[in-house]
Amino acid sequence: MADLHPENPYAKERFPDPNKRVEFSDEAKQRFDYILTRYPNKEAALLPVLHLAQEVWGWISPEVVVYVGELLDLAPATVFGVVSFYNMYNQRPVGKYHLQVCTNLSCMVTRAYDIYEHLCEKLDVQPGQTTRDGLYTVTEVECLGSCGTAPVVQINNDYHENMDVAKMDALLTRLK
Ligand code: FES
Repeated sequence: MADLHPENPYAKERFPDPNKRVEFSDEAKQRFDYILTRYPNKEAALLPVLHLAQEVWGWISPEVVVYVGELLDLAPATVFGVVSFYNMYNQRPVGKYHLQVCTNLSCMVTRAYDIYEHLCEKLDVQPGQTTRDGLYTVTEVECLGSCGTAPVVQINNDYHENMDVAKMDALLTRLK
């Protein structure tokens, strides 16, 4: 099993930089305004606004948490609680291909750790890290809700089911 290093909740990079402000472009702001028209109140729009923010910046930085909170009249802690709950929001920059290996029960017993460890070794990264060329990030994630087709690897927005090491290698050769 890979050596896991739980995140330090007090790490400096987890807190927003007071000198750094982020803001949607005019085009993203228009999309934000449209999202608001589709929900009964601002808080209800939190998930799609976070999706928009991730599309714009690639990840949800502490500065983005603060910005989204301001836009939706929510405390940063509320926004961060949602960001940290869902696998789909990246809490750090990720590579072009985000390889998310589920290691919950169904996937674990169908050898998900073989895939996970193989990826880390082959790509020469520690869990959660990105390769130096910026192409791949390997992350261990909680249940992806597709236990019947375990083990499952999510790459960006796509699920790859009934995976094994050989299938993973074949897939990697197509992801360049
Ligand atoms: S345990 Fe892996 S998808 Fe549910």
